[in-house]
Amino acid sequence: MTAVNIAIIGAGVVGKAFIEQLAGIKSKTISYNLIYLATSKKALISKDYSPISIFESLDLLSQSTAAPYQTPELVNYLAESSLPVILVDNTSNEKLAESYPLFVENGISIATPNKKAFSSNFKLWNDIFSAAGAANNGLVYHEASVGAGLPLISPLKEMVETGDEIVKIEGIFSGTLSYIFNEFSTIDPNTTKFSEIVSVAKQLGYTEPDPRDDLNGLDVARKVTILARISGLPIENSTSFPIHSLIPKELESVQSADEYMSKLPNFDGDMDALKAEAAKENKVLRFIGSIDVPNKKVSVEIAKFDYSHPFASLKGSDNVISIKSKRYTNPLIIQGAGAGADVTAMGVLGDVIKIAQRIAK
Ligand SMILES: NC(=O)c1ccc[n+]([C@@H]2O[C@H](COP(=O)([O-])OP(=O)(O)OC[C@H]3O[C@@H](n4cnc5c(N)ncnc54)[C@H](OP(=O)(O)O)[C@@H]3O)[C@@H](O)[C@H]2O)c1
Repeated sequence: MTAVNIAIIGAGVVGKAFIEQLAGIKSKTISYNLIYLATSKKALISKDYSPISIFESLDLLSQSTAAPYQTPELVNYLAESSLPVILVDNTSNEKLAESYPLFVENGISIATPNKKAFSSNFKLWNDIFSAAGAANNGLVYHEASVGAGLPLISPLKEMVETGDEIVKIEGIFSGTLSYIFNEFSTIDPNTTKFSEIVSVAKQLGYTEPDPRDDLNGLDVARKVTILARISGLPIENSTSFPIHSLIPKELESVQSADEYMSKLPNFDGDMDALKAEAAKENKVLRFIGSIDVPNKKVSVEIAKFDYSHPFASLKGSDNVISIKSKRYTNPLIIQGAGAGADVTAMGVLGDVIKIAQRIAK
């Protein structure tokens, strides 16, 4: 039996589901030993590296009075472990993401759904992956940073590494915006207003507390940046290409989410006009990220799709991604839930298992 030590940062929606799934792993060959679990306020630390009960870890964390290690202390602690270590970053913290090269250079591997490290400046991306490629350094896997647990990053990397050439990637990468457009612009015409759908999505908890955080397109832009970089485009950062914000200019700076929601109906006419124009061409509207590799063009925008296109028949809040390459001239289509605790945790745990299979001893 071989083993790895696991350090987890973040015990929120994804973190809790991850711990539950980790507790259920039944491996006959690798033992997954939890040695550290932290939120921003407290931590559970096994100072002698003896395994902490994964089943009891959340209860133990809630009772703990220990403060989390600051990054340099954490790096030293993990680097001194006699077993290989996987750091699981289940936060969306940017500072932690900026420290990935330091962890990796100290032999610590990383599995994470946190998009920040891979979609911020291009130097950080290069620092992470040049460190992750070097002997004795850690590995970095981030399947759940785009499309949650959908098999996307790993197949895309394999396509590129085996010599396929990516031609075009288009996708609906936001569960929230998938739901909003699937309800708003349908094959069977409807008269539902954009603002009504945003309001229902907010009530159902599909949007961020302030829906502008979904509608500004920035989250989609981060995901597109990651896929574009894997496809070979040196995207400087996630705002260095056109991003169509769905927030009317006049409502960008209103103070509260409530004020935004109350004024949004005033702009329904603009969205109705777009919908009518698409319907005239037998098309629906979808909010997509698009990467055209040969022409080095990346964008986040509203686009029109024929009723027969796979994006037009999308249901609920699913993500869908179409990858056209030299080998897949008929695009490869990947579709399914692109958010949610269980599928995201599955993507992260899948990465942990892949890393462990390479480094456990
Ligand atoms: N939820 C989804 O469906 C989904 C889907 C795909 C990807 N993701 C990604 O998964 C990650 C986690 O999302 P989530 O929904 O689980 O978020 P969440 O519920 O807000 O949980 C975040 C956790 O991270 C902790 N944290 C934040 N900053 C920290 C710091 N500096 N040091 C230590 N702990 C820190 C928080 O602790 P405190 O409570 O103490 O602040 C909390 O436990 C994010 O990167 C998100 O983008 C989520």
